[in-house]
Amino acid sequence: MQFKTIIEPFRIKTVEPITMSTEQEREQFLTNAHYNPFLLKSEQVIIDLLTDSGTSAMSSNQWAGMMRGDESYAGARSWDRFEKEVHDLTGMPHILPTHQGRAAERILYSHIGGKGKYFISNTHFDTTRANIEYSGATAIDIPALEGKDYNSDFPFKGNMDVAKLEELIKQYGERHVAAVILTVTNNSGGGQPVSMQNAKEISKICKKHDILFVLDCCRIAENSYFIHEKEKEYKGVPFREIAQEMFSLADAAIMSAKKDALVNMGGFLALRSKSLSEACTQMLIITEGFTTYGGLSGRDMEAIAIGLQEVFEPDYLKYRIISTQYLGEKIRSKGVQIIYPVGGHAVYVDAKKLYDHMPVEHYPGQALVCELYRIGGIRTVEIGSVMFGTYDGHGELIAAPMELVRLAIPRRVYTQSHIDYVIEVFDEINRTKKNVKGLRITKEPKFLRHFTSHFERL
Ligand code: F0G
Repeated sequence: MQFKTIIEPFRIKTVEPITMSTEQEREQFLTNAHYNPFLLKSEQVIIDLLTDSGTSAMSSNQWAGMMRGDESYAGARSWDRFEKEVHDLTGMPHILPTHQGRAAERILYSHIGGKGKYFISNTHFDTTRANIEYSGATAIDIPALEGKDYNSDFPFKGNMDVAKLEELIKQYGERHVAAVILTVTNNSGGGQPVSMQNAKEISKICKKHDILFVLDCCRIAENSYFIHEKEKEYKGVPFREIAQEMFSLADAAIMSAKKDALVNMGGFLALRSKSLSEACTQMLIITEGFTTYGGLSGRDMEAIAIGLQEVFEPDYLKYRIISTQYLGEKIRSKGVQIIYPVGGHAVYVDAKKLYDHMPVEHYPGQALVCELYRIGGIRTVEIGSVMFGTYDGHGELIAAPMELVRLAIPRRVYTQSHIDYVIEVFDEINRTKKNVKGLRITKEPKFLRHFTSHFERL
């Protein structure tokens, strides 16, 4: 008998209390945080959907691994386990452990980047773009055109536009393109999956022009699930083998282990080229740590090695993707525009559509982020003109191409009733939407302004 209810495939062994709050209290917390939920304290939040990064619940097996962590400075057993696991998964001979994804980005992109260089991606994640631009290089996003239609059934809206890739390489000259970065799944592009077909085409183009092909692979297990479900040649192929095939197409991989390695901290840079690895290792030792721990404790490396196995378990992956879909489908059935089909780790709401009375200069995404918190104590993040907007020479906003709000689901943390609560909050969001006013930025830094900017209500 096949039952239609899909249950969380785990029991809960340790619990962490949630502090409840009233709407009135939250109004005050929000004012104190300058309308930027990054500046809230976690105990002021009821359901934290700010990120799926570093927020996973670890398994009893991972906690047991933590106790086995070998904290030797050099040559630790935990490093051997970590290296073996990452090597087996990626097939890459040179593995550099880092404290998180952006450390690996800084090491690689500061070395191969610099003024006059171009990086091309389906969509650069914000820290990826920041590291590239900080080096003086230029980051260009070329998501596939199919991704622009939020409602079509196209299964791989995270793809890169390969025709455009060829065009840009011709335009800039292959020597000036430092790397092509494929982000799987495409986080800033709606958490949408990338097909193996797309990865194969990109790999071929990179080989032809001798350009480094980097996989930004922090959600590669989730991406493999979509390939398994939606790309017919991969039906029945184990998820891990699908991931291994994708790695085999690339020259390098950067992973923030805080996502699909099911841990709270960690990352790595994996490379095929010996000479590139030698140059990056120099930087690793200067800024992260010795080669056999990088920025990580032995216990972190143990937990990552175990998490990279657990994440490919079929029951886990099925639960993961289907529970994210559950949230997305329910919100959508209330008439809220989301990026559809639902991606792997998050639901992305189109705030521009929801608040269609609000000009982009008033940051509709940030307004929805504040409303979700005020009404329901739900913390989310804007992915729109706060995160990616810039200014022209006269200080006028150049808006981002989309005004989204991301509801990211931590792995193995919330149960279905938590998610049902979030769904219910959207009834009130819908009921009150016409009265919502936007925000104005009162203080902002030069890079990654969404983290620390202050706002006030208009
Ligand atoms: N690449 C992608 C696609 C990411 O989603 C992230 C982080 C990184 C790189 C950087 O990794 O945080 O370990 O330094 N994404 C988090 C998020 C922060 O909320 O989506 P990190």
